[in-house]
Amino acid sequence: MAATWLNDAVFYEIYPQSFFDTNGDGIGDIPGMTAKLDYVKSLGCNALWINPCFDSPFKDAGYDVRDYKKVAPRYGTNEDLVHFFEEAHKRGIRVLLDLVPCHTSEEHPWFRESSKEEPNEYSDRFIWTNSCWEHPEDIPFVGGEAPRDGCYILSFFKCQPALNFGFGTPKAPWQQQAGSAHTLETREAIWDVMRFWLEKGCDGFRVDMAGALVKNDTPDRAYTQEVYKDFRQRLDAQFPEAALVAEWNTPEQALNCGFDMDFYLSWAGNGYSHLMRNYPVIGQEGPEGGDSSYFKADTDADPLPFLAEYLPTYLKTRGKGLWCFITCNHDTVRPRFNLSPEELKLAYSLIFTMPGAPFLYYGDEIGMRYRKLPNKEGGFNRTGSRSPMQWTNGENLGFSQGKAEDLYLPVDPAPGAPTVEAQESDPDSLLNYTRRLIALRHSQPELQARSPFLPYFAEPGNRLLAYKRGTLLCAVNPGREALTLNLDGKYRLLFSQGDAALTDDTLTLRGFAVLAPL
Ligand code: NOJ
Repeated sequence: MAATWLNDAVFYEIYPQSFFDTNGDGIGDIPGMTAKLDYVKSLGCNALWINPCFDSPFKDAGYDVRDYKKVAPRYGTNEDLVHFFEEAHKRGIRVLLDLVPCHTSEEHPWFRESSKEEPNEYSDRFIWTNSCWEHPEDIPFVGGEAPRDGCYILSFFKCQPALNFGFGTPKAPWQQQAGSAHTLETREAIWDVMRFWLEKGCDGFRVDMAGALVKNDTPDRAYTQEVYKDFRQRLDAQFPEAALVAEWNTPEQALNCGFDMDFYLSWAGNGYSHLMRNYPVIGQEGPEGGDSSYFKADTDADPLPFLAEYLPTYLKTRGKGLWCFITCNHDTVRPRFNLSPEELKLAYSLIFTMPGAPFLYYGDEIGMRYRKLPNKEGGFNRTGSRSPMQWTNGENLGFSQGKAEDLYLPVDPAPGAPTVEAQESDPDSLLNYTRRLIALRHSQPELQARSPFLPYFAEPGNRLLAYKRGTLLCAVNPGREALTLNLDGKYRLLFSQGDAALTDDTLTLRGFAVLAPL
């Protein structure tokens, strides 16, 4: 059963270490997230995704979990998190935690036990070869580090040993069949983590590397899907309103096995990148040329490469779950890197009027910049999208009362760096525009998650894209020239940004407009 609240959900992603610091140690914390819930509500966001906030050595920003059931002390306590759920719920805001089922930290007690020479309860919780000389083919591994005589395989970085969900087609004796006894123990252990937080009041999970549970899986990841089908059955029985969003980027698979949502992520050359981030080289202040993103005002890109990818997948998966647009996330270069605030307004116009549940990454609502920053906690080039939230024009831009040198990452030093404070009072700010868009979405059921999408106008060489959401007609023209669209009936202007002139049978547009039938 799909969580009914998702239809009108608008998510806000919080990277906890960079959101708001209440104890002056320079790192964001859970009381800080609680303190900013009214701000989240003021945006119109009614759901949150919190990046991992669990005990961790932070070699991958918390995606290396040392204790799934304990809040990282730098963020607060389990009680703080439960209080946060309660305060969020009072405001009608749901909270998804980040579940990391593919790997733990190398410091997790399960892995420490698994590394021991003497066989024990956790020997098969991770994936080990039978000798340190036996090297897995085509799978990254570590050998010679543990007392145990074997190599263990990795899921992501060196600090993240892969949990044992088995193999679709085992090819060596040390590879266990997915679904066999020890792999089921791993499944139970992850379910136990899910139940632990759901019972404490969280509303579901964003699932990290969701499609990668079972190694050497079938092309449609049938064995991985089997695990989530099982989780979904248990959720339906015990937590029917819990929601799951996959980091999978293959909605045909993710939405088939019990996920409510999958992300439409930005991958080089894909349809979403064509819209937002179609540039070849990452420089410091912006792309070093060659940015042909559709939402760049001065390109001649048309929307067809986006539609060619989006539409078939949308049609295949509609009715099964939600394929969700993001403004960005903690792994992606912020869209302000290459798009101006005016260009962002049009990009967000599309994002907040498409099917699925939109995800707004903290700070994108004010157009925070991507900055070239030294690697922090395994962020590498992603670090530049993880800098502290810019609240006020005061010290540390309102993020922390700590010393500037103690901050998790330096705040944006640019004169006039965007802040919530500066944009609050400007009706034309990106912040207030984003609020208006989200309010529009809440006010129009036809703009929400499951209402039908149908392209209305897109042509080679033409900058205009128009699409129907139910009976509403949305149109965007990110170019500098106004363009005219023929209408299929009589409409009134419901919402617009830029120049929109409506006659009985045409719309002439530079910007964005939503029309409602008369
Ligand atoms: C995807 C997460 O979004 C990313 O930040 C992390 O490094 C990897 N998965 C590994 O967990």
